[in-house]
Formats: sequence, C-alpha cells, structure tokens
Amino acid sequence: MTSAVTSALHDSALLKAARGEAVPHTPVWFMRQAGRSLPEYLKVREGIAMLDSCMDAELITEITLQPVRRYGVDAAIFFSDIVLPLKAIGVDLDIVPGVGPVVAKPVRTLEDVAAIPDLTPEALPFITAAVRSLTSELAGINGGTPLIGFAGAPFTVASYLVEGGPSKEHAKTKALMFGAPDVWEALMVKIADIAAVFLETQVAAGASAIQLFDSWAGALTPDDYVRHVQPHSARVLERVGSLGVPRIHFGVGTTNLLGLMGDAGADVVGVDWRTPLDRAIPMVGDRAVQGNLDPTLVFAPTEVMTARAAEVIEAGRAAKGHIFNLGHGVIPSTDPDQLARLTEFVQSYPLD
Ligand code: CP3
Repeated sequence: MTSAVTSALHDSALLKAARGEAVPHTPVWFMRQAGRSLPEYLKVREGIAMLDSCMDAELITEITLQPVRRYGVDAAIFFSDIVLPLKAIGVDLDIVPGVGPVVAKPVRTLEDVAAIPDLTPEALPFITAAVRSLTSELAGINGGTPLIGFAGAPFTVASYLVEGGPSKEHAKTKALMFGAPDVWEALMVKIADIAAVFLETQVAAGASAIQLFDSWAGALTPDDYVRHVQPHSARVLERVGSLGVPRIHFGVGTTNLLGLMGDAGADVVGVDWRTPLDRAIPMVGDRAVQGNLDPTLVFAPTEVMTARAAEVIEAGRAAKGHIFNLGHGVIPSTDPDQLARLTEFVQSYPLD
C-alpha cells in the first residue's frame, strides 16, 4: 500500500476519533451492518451456507463492501463470524439460521481443550486474501475508508464451545469457570491465542483497527470478570496493541464492567444501548467510546430516531473521542433507507 493511502486512512474520522483527536464529523458505522437487513446480501448469500460464505474471499469482499457503498459509513467491518477461526482449525460446528453457532461436541474436560488445535495464519488464506482485496478497494472509497477487523473475546467464544450453542444464562460455562478452574484456564488460554492469531492475520493483511467482541461478558460480576476473564482478554488486546492499530472492546449489558473492559487494554470502549453515554464516559476514563443508539429506534419515525441520535452525539462530546454506532447489532428487519438517513444525519451533525 502506498504511503498516501496509509496517511489518508490515518487521518480518517474513525481513526482520529479512536485516538481522541479532533474530527470533521462524528464517524459512524453499525455493528452487523453487513447482513440480513440488506437485499443485496440476501441475494449473494442465496444457497450458500453462512460459514462457507466466510471462507470465500470474493464473497467476503463483496458483502463487506455492500453497506459501505449503500451508506457511505466511516468504516467497513470485516464480514466473518466469531466462530470462523474455530471452523478453520477443524472444530465441528455450524451456524444454524435463526439459532446461531452450534458446536457438535461441547468442551468440558482438559482432554477436550487439548483436542482443539492451535490456529496458525496458514489456516486462514481466504482471510488474508479478502483483507488485501478489501483494503485496496476501500482505499478508493470516500478518500479512504478503514477496515475494522474483529474477533470474539475468550469468554464469549468459550460460552458457545461449552454450552454447545447459544445460551441465555451461560450456566454450563460459568459452572466450568467456578468448578473446574484448571480446565477453564486452559480453555481461555487456548481461545485467547486463537483470537490473537485471527486478529494479527487481519492486521498484517491491512485492517486499520480491530474490535474484540465480548458480547456475553455482561453475564459476569465485576469480581468474576477480573479473576477469570479480564487477563485473557488483556493478553489478546496486548498482542494486537503491539501492531499499532486502535482496539475497540464491546460487550452487552456491561454497565458494571465498562471501566474493567477499558482496563483490559481497549483504546475505545463499546457501550451497549442500556447505559447512557453520559454515565458510561466517566466509567471508561481517558479512552474513546463507541455507541450507542438503541437499535430499535430505527423503527420509530425518522425525526424521533434522529432526535435521539443527536442526544447520543451531544453526550459523546464529553468523551476523549466518540464513534457513533448502534448499541448492539442491526436488527434483520431494519429498513436500510432508515440507516442511510441515520448515517447522513450523524455525518452532517455540526460539531462546533
Ligand atoms: O456486519 C458485521 O458486523 C460483520 C459480520 C459479523 C457477523 N457476526 C456476521 C453474521 C460479526 C462482527 C459477527 C460477530 C458475532 N457473531 C457475534 C458478536 C457480535 C454480537 O452480535 O454480539 C456473535 C455473538 C456471533 C455469533 C452469531 N453468529 C450469532 C448469534 C448469529 C445469528 C444467528 C441467527 O441466524 O440469528 C450468527 C450468524 C451471523 N453472523 C449472521 C451474520 C450476517 C447471520 C447468518 C446469515 O446471514 O445466514
């Protein structure tokens, strides 16, 4: 990549906000912006299983670019899934439509953990190819649009591996954490290493920032988070930090954990829609924040949605930096035209 491209990306609103520098407008992107809310996504995915589409560099590139073309958002989020690296090393799992990731043989013992192979970049040729083609395409969009790479954080990925599928209470996961600390430690070390390699591969190929999704960390008390989870997330974030890209760290229902998730080594703390930014910002301290419009507000009249977006932007001004997002992923029945109007509103909102 030429240095002109690198410097345009460096000066993009997203990366400036992540570093806490002044921005021309509040940068905006949406978690799950690529996916089922877009007719063009449903069309290219027809007849192709989710995880197969995540292993096809051309499809990854097309799907990742779709929301950037449609909305002109300030970042692309890499199209993949938090369980993709496990699939790439041969863990028997699938993503079942309408359900989520389902693991054939849940992990319960030290032998189960030992049976999970380590991840190497060589297992991810389609990731490297997709990131390379994406970063070259994105360099020409809106003066240079950054690509955000991502991975699932150890606790959230462990939850799928231990439960065998999606779970509300994460009871088996927490039972393992409380009752078999040696198995838990081995599992978290293994998954943290997998997440770090997955992120390092994306950054090495050209991703400009990363997001570590600990979607289900809100199931933990602060003490348990500190004792059993934070050190593992911290190791992942530290490894990626040494590559010099900003690190966003997000979870759902994490009002009690925002400061601790920042301390795990985030440059930007993602805030879900339940915690108003004016409460969240003092908790994250000297870090940028990302969020946090309630994703159901897109179903309200446009002027109601934009009035609430304005409140989010105004509250975000107290932070070191602010990246606008929804407070969790785009709901599949969202009208894309409403997200187009929201993007336009955030990008043209005057900051002086
Ligand atoms: O646009 C983007 O944000 C990029 C792509 C992305 C996907 N999954 C694509 C996907 C990202 C960042 C993820 C992360 C992910 N996957 C998380 C963390 C974020 C969060 O939502 O909290 C989690 C928990 C998963 C696990 C997972 N994968 C779930 C719960 C589901 C939904 C299952 C369903 O059908 O309701 C998936 C599948 C999935 N991942 C889809 C997409 C676009 C839908 C599958 C499809 O289109 O067939």
